[in-house]
Amino acid sequence: MSGVSLKGIIKAYGAVQVVHGIDLEVQEKEFVVLVGPSGCGKSTTLRMIAGLEEISDGELTIDGRFVNRVAPKDRDVAMVFQNYALYPHLNVADNIAFGLRIRKESKETIASSVDEVGEILGLTPYLDRRPADLSGGQRQRVAMGRAIVRRPKVFLFDEPLSNLDAKLRTQMRAEIKRLHKRLGVTSIYVTHDQVEAMTLADRIVVMHDGRIEQVGSPMDLFLNPANTFVASFLGSPPMNMVKARIVAGDQGPVAEFDGQSLPLAQIPALQNSVGKAVTLGIRPEFVTVAANGTPGCVNVDVDLVETLGSEALIHASLQGDPFVIRTETLGHLGMLGDISGFTIEPDLIRVFDAESGAALPGQGTKS
Ligand SMILES: Nc1ncnc2c1ncn2[C@@H]1O[C@H](COP(=O)(O)OP(=O)(O)O)[C@@H](O)[C@H]1O
Ligand SMILES: [Mg+2]
Repeated sequence: MSGVSLKGIIKAYGAVQVVHGIDLEVQEKEFVVLVGPSGCGKSTTLRMIAGLEEISDGELTIDGRFVNRVAPKDRDVAMVFQNYALYPHLNVADNIAFGLRIRKESKETIASSVDEVGEILGLTPYLDRRPADLSGGQRQRVAMGRAIVRRPKVFLFDEPLSNLDAKLRTQMRAEIKRLHKRLGVTSIYVTHDQVEAMTLADRIVVMHDGRIEQVGSPMDLFLNPANTFVASFLGSPPMNMVKARIVAGDQGPVAEFDGQSLPLAQIPALQNSVGKAVTLGIRPEFVTVAANGTPGCVNVDVDLVETLGSEALIHASLQGDPFVIRTETLGHLGMLGDISGFTIEPDLIRVFDAESGAALPGQGTKS
């Protein structure tokens, strides 16, 4: 059971607390991604798991063993860093073999492990090269090779792809995913990039200011964000936010804003919130575009249409706040210039408390 369990994990530097009590159960073989803006405490949390930072308070167990005070090398974890941290004077094979030599493994074991890892990562032709003679992507593969060869219980990744250009990042992301499928090693991966989080994770942990905002599968977080922070962090372009008030309509709850209205889902939390100030969350891809004058549509002020091939982004504003609509171009091409509004299914609107930002309870569906 190579899971990782964090209970009430706190980190303080002197009087300043930066991680405020993290509770998280990572299951064996699971790929968990910690995501959040720069400075929210992702690396600090990961480094506490690795043993590179002391844990100020709380309990950390790896594979069922309490490890708060266990040295990094005895935790059976391997970490991959953004800056690769390779030994420049050693060739690829020796970089990969380094940890095994320290452990005094036999020459035969080392040679066969390096061969195997080189094959898994496509590094076989480069085993004799030094890091300076490799591309960024190859260097990051060597860093991963060094982690894999130790056969740890847990992989820890801290923004491993951030130094690579966009194309290589997409490629390496797929490689990491394939590698995890093949090796099945429990992994905790830190990134500020929500696309990496969405594509790699079994479960995403959204962090903000040293706290967890929400934990769940990528689609669950995308469809049912617990609050406006998660709603605006995941998804690109981000979820549109519209200030509104709930009123009682003939058929049920209705959101009013800007002299316009949208019917809301018939669920108790919304039915019982008449008069409440709320923020509506509307995903750019969940609306249906409507041409000028379509009955029942919400009108927006269109500023700019970007055509990106298969899809178009319509940049508009509503009550002075930006509002973006994403639509397929096929079938809409002739009307892109006429679009001035949208309709949306009540179930696809998310309603948040205007003050706290928390989602009103009982909304949404399981992905
Ligand atoms: N050695 C340190 N001393 C004091 N504050 C630190 C130290 N390391 C990190 N911090 C602070 O802790 C917070 C979290 O940092 P970090 O975990 O690196 O964030 P992230 O990885 O999410 O960008 C930041 O506000 C950072 O300034
Ligand atoms: Mg960091």
